[in-house]
Amino acid sequence: MSDTFDTTASKSEIYHPSAEVLASVQLPNYLELREQARRDPLAFWDARAKELVEWYTPYETVLDDGNRPFFKWFTGGKINIVHNALDRHVKSWRKNKLAMIWEAEDGEQRTFSYFKLWKEVNRFANILKSMGVKKGDTVTIYMGRVPELPIAMLATVKIGAIHSVVYGGFSEQALADRIEDAKSKVVVTCDGAWLRGKTVNLKDIMDEAIARSPVVQRVIVLKRTGQPINMVSGRDFWWHELAALPIAGPYCETEPMDAEDPMFILYTSGTTGKPKGLMHTCGGYQVHIATTLKYAFDVREDDRYWCAADPGWITGHSYIVYGPLILGLTSFMYEGAPGYPYPDRWWQQVEKYGITILYTAPTAIRGLMRFGDAWPARHDLSSLRLLGTVGEPINPEAWRWYYTVIGRERCPIIDTWWQTETGGFMITPTPVVPLKPGSATLPFAGIEADVVRENGESCAPNEDGYLVIKRPWPGMARTVWGDPERYKQTYWAEFERQGWYFTGDSARRDEDGYFWIIGRMDDVIKVSGYRLGTAEVESALVSHRSVAEAAVIGVPDELRGNVIHAFCILNAGVHGDQGLVDELKAHVRHEVGPIAVPAAIEFVDSLPKTRSGKIMRRLLKAKVLGQPVGDTSTLEG
Ligand code: WT7
Repeated sequence: MSDTFDTTASKSEIYHPSAEVLASVQLPNYLELREQARRDPLAFWDARAKELVEWYTPYETVLDDGNRPFFKWFTGGKINIVHNALDRHVKSWRKNKLAMIWEAEDGEQRTFSYFKLWKEVNRFANILKSMGVKKGDTVTIYMGRVPELPIAMLATVKIGAIHSVVYGGFSEQALADRIEDAKSKVVVTCDGAWLRGKTVNLKDIMDEAIARSPVVQRVIVLKRTGQPINMVSGRDFWWHELAALPIAGPYCETEPMDAEDPMFILYTSGTTGKPKGLMHTCGGYQVHIATTLKYAFDVREDDRYWCAADPGWITGHSYIVYGPLILGLTSFMYEGAPGYPYPDRWWQQVEKYGITILYTAPTAIRGLMRFGDAWPARHDLSSLRLLGTVGEPINPEAWRWYYTVIGRERCPIIDTWWQTETGGFMITPTPVVPLKPGSATLPFAGIEADVVRENGESCAPNEDGYLVIKRPWPGMARTVWGDPERYKQTYWAEFERQGWYFTGDSARRDEDGYFWIIGRMDDVIKVSGYRLGTAEVESALVSHRSVAEAAVIGVPDELRGNVIHAFCILNAGVHGDQGLVDELKAHVRHEVGPIAVPAAIEFVDSLPKTRSGKIMRRLLKAKVLGQPVGDTSTLEG
């Protein structure tokens, strides 16, 4: 069942917090607080909502569970995350504090104080208004990793509109589907993005996506690469030209929102090919991310914080853009890929900027580990205080390397388990929690998680089961955009009677109650920590004229966690050769994006199916891995 490898290493390997860590941490009694929160979770969240964010109008109810599973948090409250992330800091001493330091692939550097970022956000908010964007409208944002990406997100939310950020690594069909589903009349993009010294033609991809999804009326284009692009008169506008107009004034009022108004949509992969837009709201989301970031990472005023994800994923939304700004931190953002243009680029940046917290994914750690220990050894990494990881289970070997070679055995490793759906961390240690390599340890304060059997009974220690969340939490996605029934079906049907949220993951708990995530139980594959649905890749394959039917599976890979293995039945008369393999790979890259490209494509005459016609991916996987095929009683005759 496991999609991963080596996650079950010695469970007796425990790393206790050092005396130094215990003496300096802000919340030494975290486990006590967690115990209080277990007894009264609503009191815990109520206190955090008062401690960490400001409300225009106080809320009346912490949790409204009258219409399960459509929970509401902090009802009656009026709030805007941009007030908490920017406006209030600009009125305080933090006005001149650095909010963001950005470095380009070529080494160019830009910095933003809170005041400067606030002004840029105001300007762009006014630009969006002038393009006709109103409260409740959606704006799709498709950009590279540049400061204007967070600026566009913040500006959208400032005026009460809803952003849908599409990761810059997605391609035409994926982008078109997302624009169409969100019905965005206004989109924001770049001419191109830099990636490993080459340009990605974002605007060209956007043009093709718009041809497939004609809802778009206005395109705002940031000039980043300066490459030649096509500008459609009356539809496409340069960001810098709009910013020079009188309409782009440096002040824009922030829109007070109901706590339960939509704030953003973020698409993620599920079981079907249709993209699933998880909707997050204005109140609970910000309380959840501010709380988890503050306590799990023990953040401090003088931190230099680096979450090395992409703002286009939930990790970036919650822990690059919104969380750090709410808490008034100084963040670092790098445009390029890890190890580009040289293997110690990251370590050089840690030294140069005095990074104190580094938060990244196991796949990046494994990739950097491959270059060898000499690269980090060249640099003074003593500024680092805490290391984080997210996205997939971290194999103990990579954990130990991160701990020893990067953290020099001084930094706790905060392994955060969560999902696009959860908004923020759910299972994670804080610096005072003893660590076990490969385990995300314990549910965060106020979160009730368990591993259960199909009938809902809790599993015995070390027994594999379904990972469920037994109580609502403030950062939870409220629905699937435009499809509440799908939200109910996907997350709340498995344990409907008990009213629990099913995560889609399998896990086990050890005798100390520590959680060990095994992997996805559904048709989701994690490739380099990116989430892909089998159906997305399969529909891209069958959209090629040579392919009649396709099935894809995830196969464990040392570097990327999993890679995709595809099986295709070809149309009659088509000959499957290496040329066609290359063509199909290029086709998937073009339709979905580089992350979806199968590592292997096999041509077959038939696919194993159940009598009801469902492809049995389990059998394909067993075949590739050379494992016994198990129960085949439902196999088609
Ligand atoms: C899935 C969610 C949350 C931000 C990035 C991923 C896997 C996530 C961990 C972890 C083991 C993890 C799970 C989960 N996952 N973090 N620390 N240990 N597995 O968000 O793309 O929505 O994916 O990622 O399988 O269900 P996402």
